[in-house]
Formats: sequence, structure tokens, C-alpha cells
Amino acid sequence: MTDQPTTNDAGIPVESDEHSLTLGPGGPILLQDHYLIEQMAQFNRERVPERQPHAKGSGAFGRFEVTADVSRYTKAAVFQPGVRTEMVARFSTVAGERGSPDTWRDPRGFALKFYTTEGVYDMVGNNTPVFFVKDPLKFQHFIRSQKRRADNNLRDHDMQWDFWTLSPESAHQVTWLMGDRGIPRTWRHMNGYSSHTYLWVNASGERFWVKYHFKTDQGVETFTQHEGDQLAAADTDYHTRDLFEAIARGDHPSWTLYVQVMPFDEAKDYRFNPFDLTKVWPHGDYPLHEVGRMTLDRNPTDHHTEIEQAAFEPNNLVPGIGASPDRMLLGRLFAYADAHRYRIGANYKQLPVNASTSPVHSYSKDGSMRYTKVSDPVYAPNSKGGPRADLQRYGTPAGWAAEGEMVRAAYVDHAEDDDWGQAGTMVRDVLNDDERARLVDNIVGHLLNGVSEPVLQRAFDYWRNVDKDLGDRVESGVRDKQDEKDPKAGEQGNPARESMQRKA
Ligand code: NDP
Ligand code: HEM
Repeated sequence: MTDQPTTNDAGIPVESDEHSLTLGPGGPILLQDHYLIEQMAQFNRERVPERQPHAKGSGAFGRFEVTADVSRYTKAAVFQPGVRTEMVARFSTVAGERGSPDTWRDPRGFALKFYTTEGVYDMVGNNTPVFFVKDPLKFQHFIRSQKRRADNNLRDHDMQWDFWTLSPESAHQVTWLMGDRGIPRTWRHMNGYSSHTYLWVNASGERFWVKYHFKTDQGVETFTQHEGDQLAAADTDYHTRDLFEAIARGDHPSWTLYVQVMPFDEAKDYRFNPFDLTKVWPHGDYPLHEVGRMTLDRNPTDHHTEIEQAAFEPNNLVPGIGASPDRMLLGRLFAYADAHRYRIGANYKQLPVNASTSPVHSYSKDGSMRYTKVSDPVYAPNSKGGPRADLQRYGTPAGWAAEGEMVRAAYVDHAEDDDWGQAGTMVRDVLNDDERARLVDNIVGHLLNGVSEPVLQRAFDYWRNVDKDLGDRVESGVRDKQDEKDPKAGEQGNPARESMQRKA
């Protein structure tokens, strides 16, 4: 509580928190009640558009501390021995809208913003090491297939499986998604991955390809489909609440960052295309190297200004860290800043949560809601004392050589590249019998929830391509349930809805 009097947004004390200005107690409301109008007008403008994907999420502030020496791989200030950097993290689901349940089966966003001494560095990853598609031209179509139909505005498993089964490169990520990790118990109990390969450059100019793995120090824990469904009904904000309450009680979650490092020249002959986002680098080939620890220890006090308006963008890459030839990553380098300009406004980088804590000397100018002042000269080159790029220090971009004709073509396959192999390895070599049984149940339940022929048959073939036995079990699971189906009941795979439909 404050003993300060209420003011309007101009700081002028207001006459009442409760009563509009009227002509007598029973008379009309007067147009000159500017405070009432300010309240109504501001309220009507409270929402900014939600993020297109990843609309539902929350986050917290914290720090990243370097615990090992990786300076032989990167000169990035944020990863030098002993450095501690303030940061903000946002976790999210992908397909649901802002009010959708936290415990729907979906990948989780794992977006990090580091306020480094050489500018803002963003690592915008997921809790999965791979992704559904490998070309940015398919991303929009993929997301639309996960969201809502045009006619009835409903989500539609038939549309999802139609896209997946016509996009075999999705198999690895869909296997991951349908497994236990498709519903994390909390955001604290999941790993985060860069998924993409990035380029690290050390102080001598040597280059290395890297993949980031943020392993949860809380241990990986998940919900079953049934538990997730129950919570989706009982507490739509279960993960949001869990993170906030854990931090509020001093139980600060942490993650240890490891990187896989591939010497620059090994990329061209590696058995998998190391830039293909649907593939991992097996740990046996490239082991994990510890880098440091991220700890979240401070809750937002205003979700809107600190989390909803947080603008993560994979193009925020600092000296010592660059992109790789991963086409998805290269597409993302454009997409996010474009989304922020639309969703938040041209000067979104000036908002405190997005602003660099190291000095900004750019030539950007003007635009809606700009509040940091610009000074002359407003152009470069100039002879008037304006900032100059330090070519000596920063003049060589973190990049790679490329040449060729302009084409629209798939990646060139490396020796062991195919769409099914790594997914099959996960099913056969990583999952145990119980995990495999739950994988089958989850797929069967998903397919029974509205997937029709010919998509259904394609789905059985898709799973047989991942693993013959898995595909057979999925098909017999679906066929058995279809045989049991009560013709008066609704679609199978949603017992709560079927029970209500029977009562109606
Ligand atoms: P490893 O045995 O060295 O690694 C297996 C990986 O699987 C571990 O990272 C583990 O994560 C993860 N994992 C364990 N259980 C599950 C699960 N239920 N769902 C999803 N991931 C799980 O083998 P390889 O590195 O040779 O990879 C074999 C297969 O494992 C790959 O084809 C891929 O499908 C999968 N995988 C590989 C990863 C990688 O970066 N190499 C990362 C994640 C999955 P944790 O360490 O947390 O236990
Ligand atoms: C959010 C585009 C692939 C992780 C978004 C947003 C867009 C977008 C437009 C909304 C941004 C906003 O309004 O703030 C794309 C495109 C992709 C792609 C075009 C591929 C070409 C990926 C991949 C990952 C990923 C591969 C993970 C490795 C995220 C995360 C968010 C997000 C975590 C939420 C960030 C936040 O918390 O604000 N994406 N995306 N995306 N994306 Fe992607």
C-alpha cells in the first residue's frame, strides 16, 4: 500500500477512484471526465498482439556464470572464464494462444537474453535438440498446421498428421514430442538446446561449430498424457505458477551449459550434415564440454513490460559467436526483429528488458515512441566526431566461404543422412520398454483424436519407417480401439468429451 494519492497518467491528482463525474447523482456522465476517459482508452489498448508462435509463456531474470575455460573456442566476452552476466529467460509452448494450458503436448521454447559487455546476446532455443522442418519456407506452413482451421477455428489432428506424414524430415522431432518429454513436469525440469549449430571464433580467428545443451540441474521430469490432461483442466497456468512460486520461495532453478564442439574442417565430411536441424550430433562423436551455469533468481514484477514485451531475436549475435549454414537459423535471423517491429513497435530495443546495458552508439533515429535522444551527426561516414566501426577489432565477420549457382534444392546429403535413422535410434537405443509403451499409447491416442484416412494409413507407414515394430504396434493399437468404438460415441481419444457427448 502507498499513502500517495492517485493521479492520472500526467501526474495530476484525481478526485475519485470510484465515481464518474455526473450531472447530479442520477444524471448523465460528462465528457469532460478526462480521468474516466483515460482509464477506458488505456484499457482498450492494454494488449499488444500476442506472439504468432510461442504466445503462452513466462519467465524470470537471473545470471549466467562461466565455470570452465572455453576461451580456446570463442572470444565472446560472455563465455570468458569467471565472467558473470545478467540475463532474462522466457519459456513457452509453441502452438497455443496466450491463455492456453501450459501442459498441452508441445515443444517448449527456451529463450535467453544475456546483457553482455559487448551488447545483447540472445540464444533462442527449445527444449528439444531438433526441429520438425529444415527449410524456413516450410516453417509458416508447419505452424499453421498446428494452430487452427479456417472453417471452424478448431485445432485439428488430421491437419497436423497430414503435414507431418508429408514431411518425413519431421519424424525425429515428432518421435521426441510423442515421448515422455513432450509434456515437461515443470519448466525447471527440462533441458534447453540451441538445436541449431552456431559458429564460435576464438581470439586467434580459429573457427569451431558448436551446439548448446542447457541441462537442468533439477533433473528431467515429465507428466504422462493423463496427468497433463488433468492439469490442463485444473490449472491452465501450472508451469507459469510453478516457476514464479519456486523463485519466490528462494528455490532458484539452474541449468549447466555444455557445448558440443566440432573443428571447422570436420563439417564437410561428417557422417551427418551438421547443419541439418532435424539431426543431432551423437555424443559419442562430439562429447559435451562444460561452459557455465545459468540461475534464475528474480521474478518479474510487471509481466507485460518485462516478459510480454521481451523481444528475443536469434540475430543478436555478439563478437565471437556467428551463425552457421543452417537454413532455418538463417531464416530466423530475419523473422524475429520483423515480428517485434510489428508486435511491439519500431523502437522495441529501447524498452528496459530489451536494452543493452553496454553503450549503444548506433545511427538509428526517430520512429514511434523513441525516447532516447539522438545527437548529430546522424549519418556515416562523417567528419563530425560520430561513432566509427572498429575494423581492426571487429572487421572480420564470423562466417564461412560459399559459392555456387542460385538454386532451390535440398541439402546435399552426408553419408548417413536420412529422415528416419536418428528417430529410430532414439526409439530402439535410448527409450526403455516402459517409455516405448507410453510412446505407442501417446501416438495412438493422438491419432484416434480426429485423424482420418488416408492420413491415418500414412501415419502407420511413417512410424514403420522410424521402427518397424513401433509402426506395427501403433497400427494395431489404433485398429483395436476403432473396433471397440461405440458408434453412438464421439471421436475416440478424448474420453472426457465422449462422456459429455453421451450425456447430452
Ligand atoms: P546418448 O545415449 O549419448 O544420448 C541420448 C540422449 O537422449 C541424451 O541426451 C538424453 O538426454 C536423451 N534422452 C533420454 N531419454 C529421452 C527421452 N525420453 N526423450 C528424448 N530424449 C531423451 O546417444 P546419442 O548422442 O548417440 O544419441 C542417440 C539418440 O538420442 C539420437 O538419435 C537422438 O534421437 C537422441 N538424443 C540425442 C541428443 C544429442 O544431442 N546427441 C540429445 C537428445 C536426444 P539426457 O542427457 O537429458 O538424459
Ligand atoms: C518465437 C519465427 C524456428 C524458437 C517465434 C516468433 C516468430 C518465430 C515470428 C515470434 C516472435 C515474437 O513475436 O516475439 C520462426 C521462424 C522459424 C522458427 C521463421 C524457422 C524458420 C524456431 C526454432 C526454434 C524457435 C528452430 C528453436 C530452436 C522460438 C522461441 C520463441 C519463438 C523459443 C519464443 C521466444 C520468446 O519467448 O519470446 N519464432 N521460428 N523457433 N521461436 Fe521461432
